[in-house]
Amino acid sequence: MREFLIIGSKAKTDKFSLNDLPGAGRIDILCRCVSSAFFLSHDIRRDVNVYLLLLGPPDPPKVIKIVGREVKYMPPDERGIAGLIRKALEVKADESWKKSSPGIYVAKKGLEELLDETASDVYYLREDGEDVRDFETKDGLFVLGDHKGVPRELEEIILSKAKKIIGIPTKSLMAEHCITILHYELDRKQLNS
Ligand SMILES: C[S@@+](CC[C@H](N)C(=O)[O-])C[C@H]1O[C@@H](n2cnc3c(N)ncnc32)[C@H](O)[C@@H]1O
Repeated sequence: MREFLIIGSKAKTDKFSLNDLPGAGRIDILCRCVSSAFFLSHDIRRDVNVYLLLLGPPDPPKVIKIVGREVKYMPPDERGIAGLIRKALEVKADESWKKSSPGIYVAKKGLEELLDETASDVYYLREDGEDVRDFETKDGLFVLGDHKGVPRELEEIILSKAKKIIGIPTKSLMAEHCITILHYELDRKQLNS
């Protein structure tokens, strides 16, 4: 199972306008990450889960979970994905996962709880990490930041749980591009094993 956790440091935790996704705490970035994580040409990766940690106002933290094996009716475009996130934010969230549409869940959880409940090995994506090409595993939970990167206090939590820091040399990239590259590199490893 390949899993991705993207930290939306300013992402809104309540209803937002679909006409201004950047203004909703850069929900646009999270939507592009979802699209990169799941979509193939005319197909969807069923062996992927995505977690979006929303830390913006008015009610942080909240997590949206998208389960590849279950998800239905998810379009690949930003606005369509944002509509599904917005629908999930209309659900009254508590500590347990509540379904908002097929394969999409919401809960009130922080980073630590989320990392504690995963069965996957945790890897942190950061520019100075070990070259992804030297990285042996094909699966895991991969943690990425948004346009602001990962806030220092959250980075400490990630580092306390992560098996390794992984990097894609040699430039600082957009989070959604990191996901595409990671899929490519891990798919190649799978093909050659
Ligand atoms: C747009 S970057 C964040 C840039 C932000 N200004 C910073 O200083 O952290 C978004 C996220 O993508 C990941 N990322 C970007 N470039 C990367 C690289 N070359 N290798 C590994 N991860 C990368 C990191 O998780 C980062 O937090």
